[in-house]
Amino acid sequence: MQQRTIIVSLLAAALVIGFGTASAKGNAAAGKTKAAACEACHGTDGNGIAPNYPALAGQYQDYIAQVLHEYKDGQRTNAIMNGMASPLSDQDIDDLAAYFSSMPGKLSDLHGKVNGGD
Ligand code: HEC
Repeated sequence: MQQRTIIVSLLAAALVIGFGTASAKGNAAAGKTKAAACEACHGTDGNGIAPNYPALAGQYQDYIAQVLHEYKDGQRTNAIMNGMASPLSDQDIDDLAAYFSSMPGKLSDLHGKVNGGD
């Protein structure tokens, strides 16, 4: 009986630790403050002020973080974004990614956008 309790406790602990590490990094509230520098182009709602500025709202958090690292280290080149990403710390990137991904996005499927679709 006691052994069973220990096993159950260990399993519970493992689950907590497992979920803890699986949960995404970054703090959306901190990201909101840091996003002031991004809003001129990506919009206060994160959807971009014009079609040439990509929508970030609702984008996968991992994707946003990944691409910011790629702009920062030059793997992905864009004159504007290389400059914007270069001063960002890893924590800034995680916070910004958490913030933009948490916003309601207009990203959707291709419903109504493909010939013959309705
Ligand atoms: C002066 C305008 C401008 C500002 C300010 C700006 N961006 Fe961008 N951003 C762009 C443009 C233009 C692109 C598209 C670049 C490309 O084609 O690679 C882009 C692309 C991105 C992408 C990739 C989107 C995708 O779908 O691949 C991310 C993520 C991003 N910006 C985040 C940010 C963050 C975070 C900030 C603030 C720290 C920021 N941007 C500030 C103009 C801007």
